[in-house]
Amino acid sequence: MTEQSEPDNNRWPLLEVEALSVAFPVSGGFGVKKRVVQAVNEVSLYINAGETLGLVGESGSGKSTLGRAMLQLETASAGRVRFRGQLITDGMKSDITRLRQQTAMIFQDPFSSLNPRQTLGESIAEVLRVHNKVAKAAIPARVSELLLLVGLSPEHASRRPQALSGGQCQRAGIARALAMEPRLIVADECVAALDVSIQAQIINLLMDLRERIGLAILFIAHDLAIVRRLCDRVAVMYLGRIIESGPTQKVFNTPRHPYTAALVAAIPEIDPDRPLPQHPLQGEPPGPVSLPAGCAFHPRCAHALPACRQGVAPETRHIADHAFACVLDSHSRDRIYPMTEERLHEAKAF
Ligand SMILES: Nc1ncnc2c1ncn2[C@@H]1O[C@H](COP(=O)(O)OP(=O)(O)OP(=O)(O)O)[C@@H](O)[C@H]1O
Ligand SMILES: [Mg+2]
Repeated sequence: MTEQSEPDNNRWPLLEVEALSVAFPVSGGFGVKKRVVQAVNEVSLYINAGETLGLVGESGSGKSTLGRAMLQLETASAGRVRFRGQLITDGMKSDITRLRQQTAMIFQDPFSSLNPRQTLGESIAEVLRVHNKVAKAAIPARVSELLLLVGLSPEHASRRPQALSGGQCQRAGIARALAMEPRLIVADECVAALDVSIQAQIINLLMDLRERIGLAILFIAHDLAIVRRLCDRVAVMYLGRIIESGPTQKVFNTPRHPYTAALVAAIPEIDPDRPLPQHPLQGEPPGPVSLPAGCAFHPRCAHALPACRQGVAPETRHIADHAFACVLDSHSRDRIYPMTEERLHEAKAF
């Protein structure tokens, strides 16, 4: 995997999206005006080379749609995608091909990414052959190398998915994804279906791959405890928008959006000393077809001001590399999420 090792390739945007939107038509009844679900709504986001970016938010917030749209597996209704500096949306076919060849996706159900009629060896060899990754004679050696890289043994090449455990299948799915020699993997709930101990093994594997081959990972997950452990930065999605993003520790220790504060507060036993917010998250998000005016979170926000209930969504504000779309001032935020002395110090330090 030496060809992927570029230790100094960190800290430049590998993939960037700007004001990206994805809308799905929903069928109304007879005579009802055609409506759309705005699954992704003017999202701007970047992922650096070699970085792990967590994407969190409740079910239906648009995480999978955004992940797919970033890889051009979903058609955007507006916005731009840049991969390694090249504009992909409306771009050259060769740029889209390059994006496809240098990115891969792994999914929640490890069995779904493998063909039950193929052995693991055949499945991985197919990728190597179709994408001309190595000479034909070198394929078996490369298959063994990839299996070893994900913690399986070369003997697993002769097994079929049915003969493997869930964790081994997920490793095999990752090996197949790595056969592409991707720069970026979008991992969509890739450990959600696994036992806790196996989850930890797969997380360690992803962390190891990040170190060894400089792989960038978009890690889509519900489990904030895992995201906190694994990700360099995190982006929080609510009803199609990114409402907060920044370095993981900053976002988790000093959340600046009440929605993030509520999500963080719900992490079990994250920090026994942490004062819990007075207003935990309640109710369900509104339907994505008819979004409320103003901040889409206002119907569930205990701190909403009159300004939050009207007009357009709040603009994204920045404090250094911490971005958040909330109009509450820092005084109000401190009331939402009372901080310990240590955290106040941390918060003031940036
Ligand atoms: N192909 C589709 N056609 C119509 N609506 C869709 C389609 N795919 C997603 N949606 C809608 O878009 C919104 C976002 O869905 P998405 O699957 O991206 O959310 P998610 O954050 O990944 O949710 P989960 O955590 O449950 O996986 C939802 O309202 C969903 O119903
Ligand atoms: Mg999803």
